[in-house]
Order: sequence, then C-alpha cells, then structure tokens
Amino acid sequence: MSHIDLMALVRDKVKGLKAYQVENLDEGTKLHANENPYPPSPELLSKIFQRLDELELNRYPDSDCRNLKKAIANRTGVSTEQIIIGNGSDELIQYLMQVLCDEGETIAFPDPTFAMYGITAQCLGLKPVSFPLNNNWDFEASSALKILAEHKARIVFISYPNNPTGNCFSAQEIQQVIEQFEGIVVLDEAYHDFAGKTFLKQMEKHNNLVVLRSLSKIGLAGLRVGYGIFPVLLAEQINKVRLPYNSNSVSQWVASELLNDFTPVQNQIHSILEERDRLMNELSKLSGITAYPSNSNFILFQASKDGVFDNLKANGILLRNLSSHPRLKNCLRITVGTKQENDQFLKQLQKTAS
Ligand SMILES: Cc1ncc(COP(=O)(O)O)c(C=O)c1O
Repeated sequence: MSHIDLMALVRDKVKGLKAYQVENLDEGTKLHANENPYPPSPELLSKIFQRLDELELNRYPDSDCRNLKKAIANRTGVSTEQIIIGNGSDELIQYLMQVLCDEGETIAFPDPTFAMYGITAQCLGLKPVSFPLNNNWDFEASSALKILAEHKARIVFISYPNNPTGNCFSAQEIQQVIEQFEGIVVLDEAYHDFAGKTFLKQMEKHNNLVVLRSLSKIGLAGLRVGYGIFPVLLAEQINKVRLPYNSNSVSQWVASELLNDFTPVQNQIHSILEERDRLMNELSKLSGITAYPSNSNFILFQASKDGVFDNLKANGILLRNLSSHPRLKNCLRITVGTKQENDQFLKQLQKTAS
C-alpha cells in the first residue's frame, strides 16, 4: 500500500490558486450564468433525437470539425482556415496564452471584466495586468496603451460587450488599441448576437486581431461550443497546442445545425432583447437600484442596501454576485430570463431593495 505526500508533488504555483467557484441552485430561477432561457427549438430537438444513432458515438469526432467550420464560415464570411473550435470559448483563451506567452510574461485586460482572463493567466504562470475602466465603464486608448507598453503585454483581451458591465466600449478607443498595440488584440465577442456589433471586418486590415465567439449564450451552453477567428498563421500555431479531440461529435453536429438554421435562435434573441429593455425600464423605476445600460443578455445593477443577493437566493432566485470586486460593491448581474422569470425577480427585488 502506498501513502506518499501528494501535496509535496504539487507545484507551488498551483497550491496558491483557488478553484473557480460556480454557484448553482438545484431548484429555482437561474439568472446567474448568462445562458439562453429558452431550450433549443422543437425542430432542432427532434433532429437531435433522430440523428443520435447516426453519429457513430463509438468513433472519435472529426478532429478538424470540418462541417461546423463550414457552417461558421457561411455565417461569418471568413475562411475555414481561420477558424478554431473550442470546448467553449474559454478553452481558446487558454490556447492563446499558451501559444503567445512564456512563463512570467504579461497579458492585459480592462477591469472589471470577465474573470477567466486573469484566472487562466495565473494558472499558466503568466502575469495578469489590468487597466481600470472609468465611471462609464469605458477606457481611453492612450492610458491603456501606456500600461500595455510598460508591462510589455503580449495579449490584450477586450470583452465586447463587456462582462459584467454589459456595455460595448467605445469603438474608436478599441480601434486605436488595434492600430497601435504591438501585440495581439483579442476581441471577445461572446455576446455578439445581442449587441450586433463586431470588429471582424477589421481583421482584413490588421493581422494582430483575433475574434472569439460563443454558442453558450444563444442556447448551447451545455454542449460547450466556442470558436475563434484567427489570422491563418496564428490558427496553425493554435492547432499545435489544441487537444486533438477537444470538440465532441454531438456538439459539433448540433452546433452546425443551429447555425445552418438560425431563424429560431434569432427569434429567441429578439425576445431576450425585448425582455432586457423591459427589465431595464422596470429597474430604473426602483428606488435603491442603479442599473447600467446593456448591449448584452444581462444587466449589471447596484443596490444601495446590503443583503439583496442573499435575500433573492433565499427566495429561489440566483443572480451573479459581484460584490467581492472593489469597484462593484453590492453589484449584481441578472441574466435576462423568460418573462415569467423576470417578473418573479422584479417582484422579489421590489420587496427587498427599497
Ligand atoms: C466575455 C466572455 N467570454 C467568454 C466566455 C466563455 O464562454 P464559453 O461558455 O464559450 O466558454 C464568457 C462566459 O461567461 C464570457 O462572459
């Protein structure tokens, strides 16, 4: 029988990390994870049931994800050689860092933003550096560029729209960063389908640009499908570190079907946007609540009182609590749900917040 000191084998860098905490509810209203509240269309669900036995689940998936790449190329107008599929777009964030950064080198992002940029960097032994957003949750290119240069950053991650603030940063400032930064600019467009704005076209003129997208926000969070659009040269390098079968057959097939017949999803997006505007309007009427404008499928708001998150949770409504961030005291992020879910939330918030 062996009994060795396992912790003595673990790298010190890993011992110092904390596992990413995902809050969840067994039952209740889940408005915390920026998912689509609507299930896949009945047509897509019935196709999945019919096709499952043809998918040869005893075989490895297509390592090149050819059909899915074709579907993405058709929707976006880029070439299939520029596309890499990720098991969620967060996998691509990791690959980018692995390909572009040696240990100790810097990656940068605005603050506050999506936590995984910093967490992934730390896991890989890189140095995460941030530049603060102003009170409109925007940034100025000149001060961002100064910080990027000072720290010799290799990559800057720009969430567009930004999670958790919900807004799109000023396009002019981003443009300046693309034009002047001598590293890779990653436009993380995970919420692109809600904002309808993109920097994709800029890739024709600038070879330092990467665009990431996700299918998690538009209905396939459970299948983990994200994709990146890269300069071809960079895609070739990413493919060297990508695990050969990182995207499974079911996910590839369902994602292709969803993209090839996008109308049902587009209708869902339309409903989500209508509900978002209604939620925003209702939130703005509540005293003790400050809600921030959103280009996404979620809204950031600040409560003047403590305990709103816990109260909602105790009543079966889970939001994302952002209070641990120094700039986000008493701030919560609500994902736009169905009308019924949003009403439930509003009713409970009215009781709690004022
Ligand atoms: C800005 C941003 N990028 C990337 C992701 C990761 O998405 P995925 O589910 O595709 O890994 C998220 C998820 O919340 C996000 O908010």
